[in-house]
Amino acid sequence: MFRARNTLLIVVAGISLLIASSCAMGEKADAKKKPVDAFEQNKHLGRGINLGNALDAPKEGEWGVTLKEEYFKIIKDAGFDSVRIPIRWSNHALKEAPYTIDPNFIKRVDWAIDNATKNGLYVMLNIHHYIELMEKPKDNTDRFLALWQQIAEHYKDSPDSVMFELLNEPSNQLSPQLWNELLAKGLAVVRKSNPGRTVVIGSAESNIINLLQKIQIPEDDRNIIVTVHYYTPLRFTHQGAEWIGAEKTKGWLGTKWTGEEKETQEVIKYFDRAADWSKENNRPINLGEFGAYEKADMDSRALYTAFLAKSAIERGFSFDYWEFCSSFGAYDPKKNAWREPLLKALIP
Ligand code: BGC
Repeated sequence: MFRARNTLLIVVAGISLLIASSCAMGEKADAKKKPVDAFEQNKHLGRGINLGNALDAPKEGEWGVTLKEEYFKIIKDAGFDSVRIPIRWSNHALKEAPYTIDPNFIKRVDWAIDNATKNGLYVMLNIHHYIELMEKPKDNTDRFLALWQQIAEHYKDSPDSVMFELLNEPSNQLSPQLWNELLAKGLAVVRKSNPGRTVVIGSAESNIINLLQKIQIPEDDRNIIVTVHYYTPLRFTHQGAEWIGAEKTKGWLGTKWTGEEKETQEVIKYFDRAADWSKENNRPINLGEFGAYEKADMDSRALYTAFLAKSAIERGFSFDYWEFCSSFGAYDPKKNAWREPLLKALIP
């Protein structure tokens, strides 16, 4: 009995030692890796562009954009610092538990992230157009969390230049309160496999600036960038936009943006509000989407884009223009050339 107890003690002591030393090693490994600073990370995002209408379409190509390897170099060479890659994971995962993501789709996303990284671009990848979640948040919570569990696990060894944005434009039935509950759960899932990853989180009601006041992010998690979208005035930026109601927006055709004081003051008012919130809350701001549809005239689009880009950078925000080569496109994929007025507006 005595001997048996002694042997047990020795075994327990041995195991404890092993655990203690492996913890210490873990600490050493962690200590070597300097934690990133969200404000620094936001500087790296700098001037970015959305690779929109590609992986966020129901199927890549369905909205006219299939990503090409050369795009990443073209973007880098033009002077951009980062890309935001909108991704419709919800169309490529099982509808029932365990909500497995199609491995071929993950490979395609890997390809995009690798190409961005190879070209020295920072990357923000997100969950985009999860329409069912917006319509029935409660019914889709488990699936949303399972998607993040898989995405986060898969990209846990990516460099710090890869950032996760939890959800594009929470809206519809996903109220500010439900979004606050969900973002905390989503963040907790991500943090399990990615304790040091920079996470991007947007305000409710489609990431509008006025809703920054309502966002609740766990106070002790400082590795967060907060994102807002800005398309005001919609009558100008979305004139003729079929997806928000052809009849309504047809009447907006011809609306210009000339940079007169009334127009610039509106931008300044909202951007100052976001900057004030950023200071009060000590969180960096990303302007994750802004731009004007191709049906607006080019002079107005260029003036508007330049004023927003400049106003964002002046306030220390990073930005992502919406978008690269589709209907808001700064790049013309048919001519294989930048639309110079828009490029100059973004990269002066
Ligand atoms: C949507 C796009 C849309 C853009 C401008 C984005 O958030 O994902 O589909 O074209 O906003 O309306």
